[in-house]
Amino acid sequence: MKAETGKDIEKAKGLLESGQLVSIPTETVYGLAGNALHIESLISIYKVKKRPSFDPLIVHISSFDMIGKYVKSVPEIFYKLAEKFSPGPITYVLPKRDIIPDLVTSGYETVAIRIPNHPFTLELLSSLSFPLAAPSANLFGQISPTSPHHVFEQLGAFIPYILDGGICAIGLESTIVTVFDDKLKILRHGGISLENLQKVAGKDIIHSHENDLITVPGQLKSHYATRTQMLIGDIPTLIKKFAGHKLAVLSFKTHFNEISPDYQIVLSPSGNIDHAAQELFSAMHNLDRLNADFILTELFPEESLGIAINDRLKRASFRDYFSESL
Ligand code: TXA
Ligand code: MG
Repeated sequence: MKAETGKDIEKAKGLLESGQLVSIPTETVYGLAGNALHIESLISIYKVKKRPSFDPLIVHISSFDMIGKYVKSVPEIFYKLAEKFSPGPITYVLPKRDIIPDLVTSGYETVAIRIPNHPFTLELLSSLSFPLAAPSANLFGQISPTSPHHVFEQLGAFIPYILDGGICAIGLESTIVTVFDDKLKILRHGGISLENLQKVAGKDIIHSHENDLITVPGQLKSHYATRTQMLIGDIPTLIKKFAGHKLAVLSFKTHFNEISPDYQIVLSPSGNIDHAAQELFSAMHNLDRLNADFILTELFPEESLGIAINDRLKRASFRDYFSESL
């Protein structure tokens, strides 16, 4: 099979109705979508992604008003969040109703639900009689796709259609939240920042400890991995330390004269964190193609989307080599 890429929502609908998988655009990253209520479609998602069955899937619906069909109850705080952030890059984890197959949730009693903010996908979801299960459309553990081309590179041989909705506007996956002890708990940092959640939830918010990287099932320490080893630190120090190696550099706003311009990507020369987030995965894809020995990178300020960016960078660079050598 070789995926066709196009803007035909009717075609995507037909394929999904016949149990096939389609890559769908969202504002965060591209998803690998299948009928969330159809066992064969769900099996195909795990198979195509080479995803272990302990890693549950997010269910995508067209409107927050429909959430009651899939979950047992909705806490007040989620209504407030939905009013502000849905459709958008936020995912709600709640006790599931029986209509959601155990295969979606890897046997957990809770299901993750999100309303993606992309006009094509909202139109597609509204036209379907079932919700869509959709993990990010990358092979398990690899970099998430923010363009149809990224999807084609990783999954083009295994799916019939990629619905082309352009480049993803946010570029980082959704923020995953649940309610625990009457408090809002962040399970994965993502496109809605902690500061913006705080504006709605006030102080009643728990977020995972910085070093406590595994917060949701399947979110492993090593994730978003480039083939090239990534190293995080002070970039000038790393350049000196690894002199003699073929180096690539991924920086927030600084250009380094020691490194050829072809081998470095400055995510946002003006220091705009939202812009840096949108470019991040694409830059990782591009630097990975250079076959350097190492990709050197740095942590972002721990604020707004910088928290989610740092989470992705730490997971991308997490290998035994990292802890031994630095
Ligand atoms: O932005 C996004 O969320 C994208 C787009 C395509 O919507 N999707 C995405 O899916 O990032 P995926 O499968 O790559 O990551 C979903 C994460 C997984 O790490 C999984 O552990 C967590 O959501 N998750 C799913 N169901 C859960 C549940 N019931 N409880 C806790 N975490 C859950
Ligand atoms: Mg993913």
